[in-house]
Amino acid sequence: MAAIPRLPEGFVWGTATSAFQIEGAVDEDGRGPSVWDAFTATPGKVRDGHTAATACDHYHRYEEDVALLRRLGADAYRFSVAWPRVQPDGTGPVNEPGLAFYDRLVDALLDAGVTPMPTLFHWDLPQALEDRGGWLDRDTAHRFAAYAAAVADRLGDRVRHWITLNEPFEHMALGYALGQHAPGHTYLLDALPAAHHQLLGHGLATAALRAAGAPHVMLTNSYTPAIPYSGSKADTEAARAYDTLHRRLFTDPVLLGAYPDLDGFGLAGPLPFVKDGDLDRIKAPIDGLGVNYYNPTRVTAPEPGTTPLPFELAEFEHVNTTDFGWPVIPSGLTQTLLELTADYGPALPPLWVTENGCSYDTAPDADGRIRDQARIDYLEAHVKAVAAAVEQGADVRGYLVWSLLDNFEWAEGYHQRFGLVHVDFATLERTPKDSFDRYAALIAEQRR
Ligand code: BGC
Repeated sequence: MAAIPRLPEGFVWGTATSAFQIEGAVDEDGRGPSVWDAFTATPGKVRDGHTAATACDHYHRYEEDVALLRRLGADAYRFSVAWPRVQPDGTGPVNEPGLAFYDRLVDALLDAGVTPMPTLFHWDLPQALEDRGGWLDRDTAHRFAAYAAAVADRLGDRVRHWITLNEPFEHMALGYALGQHAPGHTYLLDALPAAHHQLLGHGLATAALRAAGAPHVMLTNSYTPAIPYSGSKADTEAARAYDTLHRRLFTDPVLLGAYPDLDGFGLAGPLPFVKDGDLDRIKAPIDGLGVNYYNPTRVTAPEPGTTPLPFELAEFEHVNTTDFGWPVIPSGLTQTLLELTADYGPALPPLWVTENGCSYDTAPDADGRIRDQARIDYLEAHVKAVAAAVEQGADVRGYLVWSLLDNFEWAEGYHQRFGLVHVDFATLERTPKDSFDRYAALIAEQRR
């Protein structure tokens, strides 16, 4: 295959994980329950009833995991802080042992020469806040800012790069609209306040981080080009509607200080939950925009009377898929980065690919080696897609692979393996896959 073009000097290479998916130790050191503990305990919600009680046991094995990052040659590591470890009820005084864990993790990363990039919310809301309405309750935004301040107060002397939220679209859509993720609500379009309150939380947390001296703050969204099923006007309009909901609803307020027009969703006029001054808070300047990319989305006009939404999703034909069934279309990453660049112009901060990766369940061979060539192909193609976007004018500063470790893949439990490192969930043994070595070599080549 053709060589991978060199990314600009200073480009940051790394990996990403999230707390609930890897830490385990859910009852230790004063951690409170999260919405995901409740969801996993509810029969039928997670495939085969898997729970994250142990997950990768990263809480106890973080030193081994940091050693893997050092061996990889990673510049940066994106992890998330579990709010219920820091504030078991989501409010009030901090739980010292919980914060101490992240303190140790940050020190270990810095010792290994790896830049810590914590995300403050990756979906594990304290259950006590959910009991008061979760992200449908405006007060959760204020609680989030107070929690952000507490974490920054403890780690801000060493952490420079902060991410407020992970994928507020997915959290709203899967958690509040469709019920496929915690907290499991099926409110459809009535889930929209969960979008606004997360974004308000992002704005308020950004202010709190700035007050604590944070030099670099980002928000991470998921992005997926919306591809019309056909060239018809109806399909093109449907794709535009999907793009409004997935991308613009979570990007326009942050970068432009305004919500997109939601008339097509039957929501004409001002949104009742948006209060005076909210948009000013939400558009607080950020230093980078995190882009999580997995695949594009094919969109078609709905059959009349079948859905309250102005679009339906369709399958791509004749494309390779991962073991999750997700289409492998690297050009979608170039497209996403270039569309953001064109559509937001001077309002767009530098872009960071904060997640990109694939699920392949490659088992160890008899010699113990994991020959995950499909993941190598996926990663090489997507790094090239980033390079192509940069060549065409996108300002991209970093690329983080999802994920360092095989981990708890939400409603799929342990069935989807996204790791560069294989985890045996019976013994918790870590084995770097061939893709780990390839990524290490790629990082080394880029530095040469
Ligand atoms: C999430 C991760 C998740 C990954 C693969 C992203 O939407 O941020 O937590 O594991 O996709 O599904």
